[in-house]
Amino acid sequence: MESFEHYIPTKLYFGKGSISHLVESLNQYGKRVLLTYGGGSIKKIGLYDQVMDILNQGGFTVVECAGIEPNPRIETVARGAQLCKEHHIDVILSIGGGSTLDCSKAIAVGAYYEGDDYWQMVLESRGDKKALPMVDILTLAATGSEFDDGGVITNLALNKKIGRSFTFPQVSICDPSYTYSVSAYQTAAGSADIMSHIMEGYFSRTDDFDLSEAIEEGILKSVIKNLPIALKEPSNYTARANLMWNSSVACSGIPEYGKQSTGWPCHAMEHELSAYYDITHGVGLAILTPRWLEYILQKDPSITGRLARFARNVWHLEGQDEHQLALDGIHALQDFFTQQNIPMTLHEVGIDETNFAAMASSACANDRLKHAFVPLDQQDVINIFKMCL
Ligand code: NZQ
Ligand code: ZN
Repeated sequence: MESFEHYIPTKLYFGKGSISHLVESLNQYGKRVLLTYGGGSIKKIGLYDQVMDILNQGGFTVVECAGIEPNPRIETVARGAQLCKEHHIDVILSIGGGSTLDCSKAIAVGAYYEGDDYWQMVLESRGDKKALPMVDILTLAATGSEFDDGGVITNLALNKKIGRSFTFPQVSICDPSYTYSVSAYQTAAGSADIMSHIMEGYFSRTDDFDLSEAIEEGILKSVIKNLPIALKEPSNYTARANLMWNSSVACSGIPEYGKQSTGWPCHAMEHELSAYYDITHGVGLAILTPRWLEYILQKDPSITGRLARFARNVWHLEGQDEHQLALDGIHALQDFFTQQNIPMTLHEVGIDETNFAAMASSACANDRLKHAFVPLDQQDVINIFKMCL
């Protein structure tokens, strides 16, 4: 068991109708609001109109930063930060999925950044810089951005996608009914992301922290149960609510408390795929994770017991042969993703071998993967990418 520190200052309102807390949440910080959102889904579901009515009645002045992209771009961070500076914004109201929230966190820091090289600001950000307060309304269960200080920003010109600590949201409004309209593709991708946030820590050398084990296995089983229901019945509140709370806890750090850190190898590899090919984060993770597990099991059979536990406790599989059981658990994971209609090869998402070497080199920068559950070098990463073709 490792020692740990716990600090999550975000006030979270969870459940149907939580938007009733919006005015009181914003009022603490001021009346000048930067409203950030993505490509328009919030208009289609009527949330934009509802929020604008609330803001107008509440006497807020609203400046909009619309069009935040999935895999949000550094140029959009710069645009948002400039708007904050020009309009003397008091508080950011961010409505959307992880991309909108992440971009808004970077904008919150950018609002106080004195230079104009916002990419440099992202590179330097460690969560310790002054930031505007941010309130968010979550519309997609996936990243956990509503309950952490992380943000992932993309610089397509440099083929870089970088995760950094920026700032915690002051308030997150999490109403699962806003996720009824999320497409089957994004629902499945988001759920694969939730599962990955757990699996990145679950496959660790520390296995003596009972609560971590229980949270991790509990979240995995909950996603396995609720994702197929949400896909079949998009407006099933219970399924959507379970996925949403799973999302918030999975990436909060709580499931990994007390465990040796692993470097999150699938995220390191996936961010390279997104940086070069702008693919959906959760889909990249679903493609990578079973291949990574298969690869490291072969490379280091000492992890067999851990994988056999995954098969038994998460997938309810049985058997005497530990190695076979370990493999069966990996196959169960892959089959599950396939059954949810997630593309399961790199070819299907338009990726070939062209950039494998460059992506592997970048994934291994800073020796990050040397401390993974099973340490990986560049050749290992290339081998795993090849298994995903
Ligand atoms: O842009 P709009 O029109 O809103 O449409 C979005 C987008 O096209 C749509 N969507 C969102 N809510 C919807 C909806 N469509 C219909 N109804 C709704 N209620 O879904 C599409 C994807 O949205 P996006 O925000 O990109 O998805 P997600 O939440 O999966 O975020 C992915 C980003 O988060 C980063 C990823 O790397 C990626 O850039 N991550 C952030 C993390 C964090 N902050 O801690 C950790 C993660 O590991 C991850 O790396
Ligand atoms: Zn993720």
